[in-house]
Amino acid sequence: MEERSLTNDRKYSNRDITVYWKPSACVHASHCYRELIEVFNPHRRPWVNMKAAPTDEIIEVVNMCPTEALTWKWNDMEKNINIDPDQTNHVKFRRPELIDDNITDSVERPAMVKVLVDGSVMIKGDFTLIHAGETLEYKDNVISVCRCGLSNRMPFCDGHHTKTGFTG
Ligand code: FES
Repeated sequence: MEERSLTNDRKYSNRDITVYWKPSACVHASHCYRELIEVFNPHRRPWVNMKAAPTDEIIEVVNMCPTEALTWKWNDMEKNINIDPDQTNHVKFRRPELIDDNITDSVERPAMVKVLVDGSVMIKGDFTLIHAGETLEYKDNVISVCRCGLSNRMPFCDGHHTKTGFTG
């Protein structure tokens, strides 16, 4: 089942977990469909089929998503409390607002910058982005900045680099 939010974010559930997809953070790094096309198939609508693989395989692939466009949580809220930090794309670490309204997080997260091979530059943490005279503040967030120069959504990556064979 697919659900959409006002921001066009989507979520997909099976009996065990819910997977969240944030299209604005997706740079089509393609780990999800290269690893598990049965579940993550961009040519199908809805593109995520949570019944097509065991839960542990889905979690493993969601954890590979480099921009955290894909995150997940257990449907049993108790299990989310003691989640292991190596479950890197669990919402407790990536999108705490999705798991508990009572979490007030004042922790500072220095910006981390990762240059994706043949792709964009991913920036995550707390940082300020200045572009075309505009200043945007990000807190515990993830963005992908275009490196190929062909995005229609500058300064952000829109996935065009995958179609043009950009290398670098
Ligand atoms: S790097 Fe992704 S569109 Fe340019």
